[in-house]
Amino acid sequence: MTANSAFRSRQWFGATGRSGMAHRSWMRSQGFTPEVFDGRPVIGIATTWSELAPCNVHLHRVAESVKRGVWQEGGFPLEFPAMALGETLLRPTAMLYRNLLAMEAEELMRANPLDGVVLLSGCDKTTPGLLMAAASVDLPAVMVTGGPMLNGKYRGTDVGSGTAVWRFEEDLVAGRMTQEECAFAEGCMARSNGHCMTMGTASTMASMAEALGMQLPYSATWPAVDARRYETAQRAGQVAVGLVRQDLRPSAIMTRAAFENAIRVNAAIGGSTNAVIHLLAIAGRLGVPLPLDDFDVLARDVPTLLNLQPSGEYLMEDFCYAGGLPAVMRELAEHGLLNDAITVTGSGIGANVADAPCWNREVIRAVAEPFQPAGTGTAVLRGNLAPGGAVIKQSASSPHLLKHRGRALVFDSPADYYAVSNDPGLDVDEDTVLVVRYCGPRGYPGMPEVSNVALPRKLLLRGVRDMVRICDGRMSGTAYGTVVLHVAPEAAAGGPLALVRTGDWITLDVPARMLTLEVGDEELAARRAQWQPPAPHASRGWTRLYTEHVLQADEGADLDFLVGASGHEVSRESH
Ligand code: FES
Repeated sequence: MTANSAFRSRQWFGATGRSGMAHRSWMRSQGFTPEVFDGRPVIGIATTWSELAPCNVHLHRVAESVKRGVWQEGGFPLEFPAMALGETLLRPTAMLYRNLLAMEAEELMRANPLDGVVLLSGCDKTTPGLLMAAASVDLPAVMVTGGPMLNGKYRGTDVGSGTAVWRFEEDLVAGRMTQEECAFAEGCMARSNGHCMTMGTASTMASMAEALGMQLPYSATWPAVDARRYETAQRAGQVAVGLVRQDLRPSAIMTRAAFENAIRVNAAIGGSTNAVIHLLAIAGRLGVPLPLDDFDVLARDVPTLLNLQPSGEYLMEDFCYAGGLPAVMRELAEHGLLNDAITVTGSGIGANVADAPCWNREVIRAVAEPFQPAGTGTAVLRGNLAPGGAVIKQSASSPHLLKHRGRALVFDSPADYYAVSNDPGLDVDEDTVLVVRYCGPRGYPGMPEVSNVALPRKLLLRGVRDMVRICDGRMSGTAYGTVVLHVAPEAAAGGPLALVRTGDWITLDVPARMLTLEVGDEELAARRAQWQPPAPHASRGWTRLYTEHVLQADEGADLDFLVGASGHEVSRESH
C-alpha cells in the first residue's frame, strides 16, 4: 500500500467485499499483478486513435511512451479510447461531433476509477474536445498532442497541408496545373504521421494547449515522428502522477490569466480563427468569463511573430527547429505580454520559457521586428449584420479589401454557389460581396469550414485572387482570404444574415470593426415577417440533440446543457 491511499480510485480498487473483488478481479484478467491496486495513482490515457482519423493514427504508440512514464513514477496507467474525429473524412463536418467527443470523454473520465488523465489528441477537434471534457470533470490532467507532419515536399519546394490544397485547386481551375500533377502532389503533401503542419487549427490548438499550461513546453511543435515527441510523452506520464499527488487540477491551471495568454499567443503565432470558438467553449466549461471581444482587445497590441503558412512562408517543422512555442512566449513575456500563470509543470509559464532560445529569426521574429505589426490579428466585427459578432483573420486577408463596400450576391448554401460558380455569365466582379449562409452551428449543421468558397472561375481567369466573402460558418485554419466568419446569430437562427438579398449594399470596415447591411430597419422588419426558419435536419439521434441545444458561435458552439462542470464525484456503486 502506498503512503497515500486517499485517491479517488481507492473507492473502486480499495473496496472490500463483492464490489472490490469485482473491480480487481476483472482487471487482473489483463495480467496485472495485485500490487497495482495498492493505492497508487491510476492514470487514464484518453487516446483519440483511429484509422479514420489519419492525423491521430500514431497515438497508440504515443500512449506506450506515456505508460512508461506513469509506471516510472509509481502510477498505474490505463489506456482508453475516446472518439477520434478526423477532419478530412467526417461529414457533414467534424465540428458536429466535437461536443459529442467532449461529452463522451467527460463521462468516461468520471465513471471510471481514474485519479488523473493524459489526453492524447491531434486532429483539429480532438484537442478542444478533450480539454472541454477535462475542464468539466476537473481531474488532474495533462495533454500530449500528436505533433505535426514533416514538411510536405513537392518538386523541390515545401508545401503545407491544407494551405496547398486551396492553391492547387485554384491552379487547377485556372489551368496552371494538370489533374495528373495534382494527383502526384497529393502524395507529396502528407508524407508522415502527424497533423497538418501549417499553422492550421490542429497546430493552433496544440499551441493553445501549451499556452494554457496544459501541455509540457515544446509539446506543440515536436514533429510527430521526432523521438523527442515520445520523450515528452513519457515525461507527461510522469507529470500526470505528480499532478495527482499535488492535486493540481485543470481549474487551477486554465484560469482567466491562462486564457489571456492563449489569446495573445494565438495572435503572435497567426493562429486559426477556430481557436476563438474552441477557447470560448473551454472557458465556458470552467466558468471563466471570456467575452468574444476579448479576442480583439487583448490581441491588438500583439504583433504576429511567426512566419508560418497560411499567413507566412514556413511550416511547423521549421518552427520546431527555430525554437518552438517557448521562444515565441519568451518574446511576449519580455515585452509584458504574458501573464505568469501556473502550468502542468508545477511552475509558472514565465519560468518555463525564460531561457528559451530562438535559433532562426526568419521563422520566429522578435517583437521589435515582427512578421506583421500589432493589430493585424483576428478582429471582432459588430454591426447590424452581426449583432452577436463576427470575426475576420486580418493576416490572411488582402489589405486592400479590409475597407470595402460592395453589392451582395447571396447563396443559401455552398452547394448553391458551386452550382453556378463556373458559369461565365455569373453576375459578379471583384467588388461583389459573396454571402454564403445557413452554414452555422444549427444551419449546416455543425458549422463546417466552408466559408472561404473558391472564387468564381470568371474572376480567377482574370487573375483575381481574393474578394470579400461573408458566412456564418468557419474557415479552415490552413485557408486564407478576406472572409468574414462566425456571423452571429447565424441565418438558421433568424440572424440578420438570413434577410440579406442579392443587390443589397454591404460595408466591411475592419479598422472600425463594423459590418453593415445598408438596408433600413423598416425594410428589414418586413423581410423578417416573411422569413421562415429552415426545416429541422433530423428527427432523432445526435444531430437532433445537437441542433436543438447548440449555442451560437460567440458562445463557443457548445451545447447549452454542457456549459459548466459536473466534477468527478460518483457516489453510487455499480454492483
Ligand atoms: Fe487533421 Fe488537418 S486534417 S489536422
